[in-house]
Amino acid sequence: MKILVTGGAGYIGSHTTIELLDANYEVIIVDNFSNSRPIVIDRIKEISGKEVKFYEIDLTDKESLELVFKENKIDAVIHFAALKAVGESVKKPLEYYNNNIVSTLVLFDLMKKYNVRKFVFSSSATVYGNPEKCPILEDSALSATNPYGRTKLMIEDVLRDICFADKTIDVAILRYFNPIGAHKSGLIGEEPNGIPNNIMPYITKVAVGQLPYINVFGDDYDTLDGTGIRDYIHVLDLAEGHVKALEKLNEHPGLVTYNLGTGNGYSVLQLINAFSNASKRKIPYIISDRRPGDVAKCYADSSKAEKELGWKAKYGIDEMCQDSWRWQSQNPNGYSEYICEYNG
Ligand code: NAD
Ligand code: WQD
Repeated sequence: MKILVTGGAGYIGSHTTIELLDANYEVIIVDNFSNSRPIVIDRIKEISGKEVKFYEIDLTDKESLELVFKENKIDAVIHFAALKAVGESVKKPLEYYNNNIVSTLVLFDLMKKYNVRKFVFSSSATVYGNPEKCPILEDSALSATNPYGRTKLMIEDVLRDICFADKTIDVAILRYFNPIGAHKSGLIGEEPNGIPNNIMPYITKVAVGQLPYINVFGDDYDTLDGTGIRDYIHVLDLAEGHVKALEKLNEHPGLVTYNLGTGNGYSVLQLINAFSNASKRKIPYIISDRRPGDVAKCYADSSKAEKELGWKAKYGIDEMCQDSWRWQSQNPNGYSEYICEYNG
């Protein structure tokens, strides 16, 4: 089977591509490198020992994207490509709506034209807004609290409408919780632009001495130690979830939606502690104000994915931390060739 992976040079897309290649799928990546680098494609080939077809195209450019559909008989699409920074989306909503929504519509138009009927979509726990209760089930109330989240919710709605209108199309909506970790080789991992917003890349930059300490956003939540609780999931487990979702689509289920999380919540302080143990580094932190928009607790009930996909997260928090650390310590400057001394 030939799978078109949009955003395949990105963090989750690159790990999933390797999982797909290992499972003997053929992969065609489309990426515009707006948040990734060409070297990732080489690393994917190095890790997998296999060829990957690659196109540098912006998905909103329909004419260029059509070439990909013309040149390849695509069987299914996994759509990772999106802008994903919550804070930035509040400042640049138009960019987010344009990039995330338009690219998905263009993609679906071409899928229709070229008779591609299987689609896996990267959604997010963000569509649960401020969850009423944890663990969160797939049929919990949906809402969005920022433009990024609204793009995910809008696309989910579009997909539900498309599948309602055309029963021959099969779609898997995968709602990821908090992806961390990296490939065991230490050759690919998460490389955010500038100062990280998400906690794990922030912690790893503190560990290599590029940032002095981490701000813990609030210690007065109603949680075991007062800090926010999240469902951290290894990116390798997520990658496997996509392969399982593709297998499910072969059964023609119509539209299916799954939470991909471990079901375990860890507090900010527990995560910092687990990372300290894994890296054998002290992670200095300062308790600061709550971050606006944050929720106290967010963790998944992923039993539906276990029952229907035969998927269950394998990795625990210690291994997630070890693998994030291996990536950051082997690549203190991410994918950039310039390696500086670090004082950790
Ligand atoms: P990422 O930024 O590392 O990867 C996204 C990739 O898409 C990048 O390589 C980027 O260059 C590419 N891209 C973006 N817009 C494009 C366009 N118009 N045309 C072509 N390529 C384009 O992000 P990620 O963490 O790998 O996330 C992948 C998907 O998962 C996204 O849809 C994101 O919203 C979703 N998601 C991520 C998280 C997370 O915390 N990382 C959590 C939940 C959901
Ligand atoms: C995790 C915890 C923070 C940074 C975001 C998006 C969500 C999804 C995943 C894409 C929280 C705390 C963080 C720091 C801290 N992405 N924290 N100091 O906010 O759960 O989810 O990424 O879909 O949509 O909203 O993840 O990693 O930012 O925060 O104390 O410097 O760490 O308060 O409790 P979040 P996060």
